Amino acid sequence: MKDGIPLEIDVVEASASKIGSVDFDNLIFGNIFTDHMMVCDYVNGEWQAPSIQPYGPIQLEPSAKVFHYGQAIFEGMKAFKDDEDQVWLFRPEANFERFNRSSKRLAIPEFPKDMFFEGLETLLNLDREWIKKGFGNSLYIRPFVIATEPGVSASPSKTYKFMIICSPAKAYYSGEVRVVFAEKFSRAADGGVGYAKAAGNYGAQFYPTNLAKEEGFQQIVWTDANTHEYLEEAGTMNIFFRVGNKLITAPTSDRILDGVTRKSVITLAEEFNIPVEVRRVKVQEIVEAAEKGELKEIFGAGTAATINPVKGFGHAGKKFELPEQEDSYASFFKSKLMAIQYNKTEDKFGWRYAV
Ligand code: COI
Repeated sequence: MKDGIPLEIDVVEASASKIGSVDFDNLIFGNIFTDHMMVCDYVNGEWQAPSIQPYGPIQLEPSAKVFHYGQAIFEGMKAFKDDEDQVWLFRPEANFERFNRSSKRLAIPEFPKDMFFEGLETLLNLDREWIKKGFGNSLYIRPFVIATEPGVSASPSKTYKFMIICSPAKAYYSGEVRVVFAEKFSRAADGGVGYAKAAGNYGAQFYPTNLAKEEGFQQIVWTDANTHEYLEEAGTMNIFFRVGNKLITAPTSDRILDGVTRKSVITLAEEFNIPVEVRRVKVQEIVEAAEKGELKEIFGAGTAATINPVKGFGHAGKKFELPEQEDSYASFFKSKLMAIQYNKTEDKFGWRYAV
């Protein structure tokens, strides 16, 4: 809506749907995309009218700034379908606000809210069949912006492309997850871009994560860049520690992503009287708690990862395994969140958004 008038969204439908060829029971995260995508270009200092087009390749100049300077940001959101075929987004306003916080940090023009939501809803309605019912099924939504201006001078682009692509999703990790606490490499520094969903934040983790994988760990838990004494977040998710009955997680900062699932877990913990401490978490305290048998659980929280239990961790050459918990907090939060996401319970916090 602009001044009460619905936006003009040009829709070009795909000539045929690919949906019949998709094995929805055996999805690998982020490999298959729905029939349509949203596209919106920034030219002459303005975001132009958005369009919905068949999903497919785009053309860019080899000198487009995104390729040379990584001027690109993205978001991760999910849509769920309930038993009555109603589609729900989970806290999309939080993702939208973070999208523009990330853009601002990367000198990308902010995206208008009305275009974001009207475009997204048009896209989801066109590709509604791709959202399957049942716990664990979802549609992963990937909005992103790239700098498209040709030319390799190191300055912000004057043109951009905003897009939304969607991928039917089940679990992010197909097996057990073990993490290693970072001792050498860093993800983010004070005053840097750690809080933004900048594409480069993720690309820069691939090399150290490959080294960690060679040691049997799927993810790194990043520590503060100055001392490596404090635990911050993992590559694809924020991280929680359960010591005794207490839940501990690091505060957000300019190094740590303000995760939507993270803040939902904190709210639910408060709601269900689970003691939760948001404070700096020392590597040493977690290692000592594990040695004393007081570290009950570690789990990650993220849109793609949902709530993912961590089976063990490594630090300074030592490996620790975590015991199975009968009263697992990870399972508790996952079921509480899913009940809200799939419209199985009251939405006390106003987190559901009907499409
Ligand atoms: C998400 O959880 O949506 C993310 O953006 C993490 C991504 C690396 C899969």
